[in-house]
Amino acid sequence: MLKNACWITSPRDAGEAAYRYRKTFTVAGKPLKKATLSASSVGVYVAELNGARVGDAVLAPGWTSYKHRIQVQTYDVTDMIRAGKNQLSIGVGQGWAVGCIGYGRDNHYTADHVSLIAALTLTYTDGTAETVATGEDWEVETSPILSTDIYMGETVDLTAPVKTVGHAVKDSVKTRLIPQVGEWIREQERIAPIAVFRTPKNELVVDFGQNMTGYVELKIHAPRGARIVMHHGEVLDRDGNFYNANYRSSKSENVYICSGDDDVFKPTYTFQGFRYIHLVEFPYDTVDPASLRAIAVHSDMKRTGHFVCGNEKINQLYHNIIWGQKSNYLDIPTDCPQRDERLGWTGDTQVFCRTGAINYNTAKFFRKWMGDVALEQTPEGAVKGVVPAALKRGDTRISAAWGDVACVVPWEIYLAFGDKADLRRCIPTMKKWVEYMHHTGPAEFLWLGGMHYGDWLAMDAGEDSYVGATSNDLIASAFFAYSTSLLVKAGEALGMDMTEYRTLYRNVRQAFRDYFMENGMPKAEFPLTEVTRPGHAPVDTVRRGVTQTALTLILHFDLCEENERPALAAKLVELIRENGNRMTTGFVGTPYLLHALSENGYTDVAYTLLMQEQNPSWLYSVCHGATTMWEHWNSLKEDGSFWSTDMNSFNHYAYGAVFDWIFGVACGIKTDPDAPAYRHINIAPHPDRCLGFADASIDTAYGTVRVHWYYKENDRVAYEIDIPNGTTATLTLPGAAPVELQAGSYLW
Ligand code: BGC
Repeated sequence: MLKNACWITSPRDAGEAAYRYRKTFTVAGKPLKKATLSASSVGVYVAELNGARVGDAVLAPGWTSYKHRIQVQTYDVTDMIRAGKNQLSIGVGQGWAVGCIGYGRDNHYTADHVSLIAALTLTYTDGTAETVATGEDWEVETSPILSTDIYMGETVDLTAPVKTVGHAVKDSVKTRLIPQVGEWIREQERIAPIAVFRTPKNELVVDFGQNMTGYVELKIHAPRGARIVMHHGEVLDRDGNFYNANYRSSKSENVYICSGDDDVFKPTYTFQGFRYIHLVEFPYDTVDPASLRAIAVHSDMKRTGHFVCGNEKINQLYHNIIWGQKSNYLDIPTDCPQRDERLGWTGDTQVFCRTGAINYNTAKFFRKWMGDVALEQTPEGAVKGVVPAALKRGDTRISAAWGDVACVVPWEIYLAFGDKADLRRCIPTMKKWVEYMHHTGPAEFLWLGGMHYGDWLAMDAGEDSYVGATSNDLIASAFFAYSTSLLVKAGEALGMDMTEYRTLYRNVRQAFRDYFMENGMPKAEFPLTEVTRPGHAPVDTVRRGVTQTALTLILHFDLCEENERPALAAKLVELIRENGNRMTTGFVGTPYLLHALSENGYTDVAYTLLMQEQNPSWLYSVCHGATTMWEHWNSLKEDGSFWSTDMNSFNHYAYGAVFDWIFGVACGIKTDPDAPAYRHINIAPHPDRCLGFADASIDTAYGTVRVHWYYKENDRVAYEIDIPNGTTATLTLPGAAPVELQAGSYLW
């Protein structure tokens, strides 16, 4: 793949600039059969052959756990080679490896400079081959990209002369090079502005109508040396002015200096999260909308799931969920795409992964990322808050519901796509995580103490608390049981002997019940045992057991006996009613809340929560103009002010996890764990007038599964159901006995 190539870098520190590495070579005068270029970098690169861009990958080589492995991309460049003289030129920007990453300007987390490795292999029809590989004979030159950084943005000066820096020097990079395993990152959609206007502060602002991840392309003809300074923002403030204080230290500033000819500007080595741009400097009084396009960039996954219903607000919610995923599945699953994080937060990932695997085929995307989870798992089995590890200071919490990504993602991906090899590869990671929980803290079968993120951003511990009121010990021990149960299921699916973990599961479940419950209910209060961080301390000095989140986990994770369910579910409903038919749950409870209700006879209450428009609710953000999911239920408050500047993203997909209830319960499409990937489908729709109708489908390896229900006269519900060839289904309509169905299209 990279025969004869060695790592090279610039003889002079490039700083934040993107230098180009260049090699001129001559192609022998005999017929060429094939030419392939393989390349990778510390930093992000773009290759050009004879002045034309090679391939359509963006931000290659992507983001992996660089200290363990970096992907190598291989491109077929046969058609780009000329007889005679050719020039290969590869530019390298700082990217995730070298620039700012993990809060603020804490940069250089992998390396303090970029490096490049590449080999072009020319194979002739006579069977001979030649390689042009990186080495000290390559030349280094400057480029118009004077600075580039994931958080800070990019400066492109088309008037800057390109200067030779000298010959490349050999570099030593201690990591493993692997072929591309993940999806490619590509430009996906081009979006025209919906408005160009001046704000009350007289700022020239462009609105693309959609919050997204990517960048803006600008076509302009302006005098040589004219400057354009572009800032990015997700929302306007309550006075209608440009706002991006919530980006924290992520400047997200692109600066372009015009050549005097027709110029086309867009960043090459960075991306931004935005709906609006503010043209802080611009050579003209206004900007022609036709000269601007927002380009959405994300991992090139195949869209599989579709949903539409008769309620426009729920349709908008689904739209926002899809855009939350597009914006945050950019090579790794991130929390948000705009502020100085954009990190692979494990908690966010595990709560959203089921929904994500309905919307898109995420098998390959997670194959790569779970590989990094495995590589970064500590010898004791701990899985940290973010993968790839990117936080130098602070946050090294090993938290329940975050680390549990180790078990949740492999299982959900197996259910959705049924690949046993993927699951088998993850078993060691799953086991180690379960063993970590087993051996941490003072109790063998409970996880007590530690430092958790808790029911992050829940609403029941005071407005300013990041952590909800639910006992972290309860959450951690509930997840200990849940992850152990997933490990057992995974092992059994692979035909492994899981006796040891079945016993562990029984012990954990029993210990949970003994410690946290009495008379079939969670106990009211628990001491605050966990370590908290200054500024993140919960408002309470005790942690509570009777919360919406605690009840949800007990019900959904099956930590109760059958005869205890009615009282627990009734209590959950009581808490929801007391709170004005609204939830108080955060990252931990919210994904399972509607499931806990509908599994226990309260589908009506689940629908009430789904349709709720007052804060906190899913539709609150929809009613306030959201085009993506918000980090907080009320990121934008009723009075138009913001929840905070500190922790307030408008593109955080976690709460979008509600779609797995809409799809799996309201529409009723679920795969069977014993015949995953929808080989056997459990179809059990729960129609409700509030949606009018619902039409959901998923393109599986067998074909499309579809459920469409709608109301006819006299409240009768009609069902149209498609079951693809090669699959079977069990259909359970409300109030009816289950029916076994073969492939075909049915109408009820
Ligand atoms: C991120 C979250 C993440 C959390 C940890 C935040 O800064 O944006 O989504 O899960 O930290 O609690």
